[in-house]
Amino acid sequence: MPETPVKVTVTGAAGQIGYALLFRIASGQLLGSDIPVELRLLEIPQAVKAAEGTAMELDDCAFPLLRGIEITDDPNVAFDGANVALLVGALPRKAGMERKDLLEANGGIFGPQGKAINDHAADDVRVLVVGNPANTNALIARSHAPDVPASRFTAMTRLDHNRALSQLAKKLDVPVTDIKKMTIWGNHSSTQYPDLFHAEVGGKIAAELVDETWLRETFIPTVAQRGAAIIQARGASSAASAANAAIDHVYDWYNGTAAGDWTSAAIVSDGSYGVPEGLVSSFPVTSRGGDWEIVQGLEIDAFSRERIDASVQELIEEREAVRALGLI
Ligand code: NAD
Ligand code: LMR
Repeated sequence: MPETPVKVTVTGAAGQIGYALLFRIASGQLLGSDIPVELRLLEIPQAVKAAEGTAMELDDCAFPLLRGIEITDDPNVAFDGANVALLVGALPRKAGMERKDLLEANGGIFGPQGKAINDHAADDVRVLVVGNPANTNALIARSHAPDVPASRFTAMTRLDHNRALSQLAKKLDVPVTDIKKMTIWGNHSSTQYPDLFHAEVGGKIAAELVDETWLRETFIPTVAQRGAAIIQARGASSAASAANAAIDHVYDWYNGTAAGDWTSAAIVSDGSYGVPEGLVSSFPVTSRGGDWEIVQGLEIDAFSRERIDASVQELIEEREAVRALGLI
């Protein structure tokens, strides 16, 4: 077992995703069952007491891998030496809102946190932004961290990816493990494009196993609007499934993706697939040696191109909006 614990910072630790996430991190599911962790919990001052309560519960689990918990309202303390930073703390949307409606309220959180990561985190820091609108919040954080490689800033589309796997598995009545090469392209928003033209089920292209009307009128909107459907049903946005996706994202980032498969993550574009450089957009990605790599060489037909372009256009507009707000 490695001696030195990995420092994992979680913002919004007293929120609903935080509550679903922290116990799984402390039990070894984020990085691996033999890797000790030290938790740093960042909250706003009013919520520090609630985070302390969660920390008491973490203590009460006597997790063998948990080597310490520090709770603070100061980003400079929270990110000091951080190896993994999970930026969850932000307002969730309410019914009837799009995630980008949160930009003005939440965008301001991510500049100072990006700067604190830049100034205090460990050299190998890896950042996952969960707080919405996640892609553009990651863009903001990254723009305040010029000394951290751009490849270390990511945003979460793994929940969308998992939703797509689950919807398709149900439709075809197969286990989710039969599905490979699912992709979410673009923004974690209702313009996202879940792609069945490269996904495979038992070696066959998924789009050829379903009828086009289902793909177009049921599958894509169900995946893209699942967050809103959950808010309608629960009266609160997804929490346990979001925490689960964050675990999946970081686990694969650290431990690698399976051979012959890929996953989806929003990463800083290098211009691949016509996505302008610098935007944080979701791609098909593999992970090897702790770095995400975009799967190259996929043929994109007109149907997919139109949908990828629409989502990327929204990311461009969000970047313009945060520029206008002076956040980047
Ligand atoms: P929540 O309201 O339950 O918790 C948010 C927590 O963040 C609160 O405890 C709040 O005090 C804290 N917080 C606010 N500002 C902060 C700051 N500057 N620093 C540290 N902490 C701060 O919300 P939640 O349900 O846990 O959701 C959190 C965010 O995650 C929301 O923006 C939500 O929309 C988003 N989300 C994203 C995905 C995704 O797939 N990317 C999925 C689900 C939810
Ligand atoms: C989700 O996809 O469930 C989250 O982004 C919450 C939301 O606002 O939809």
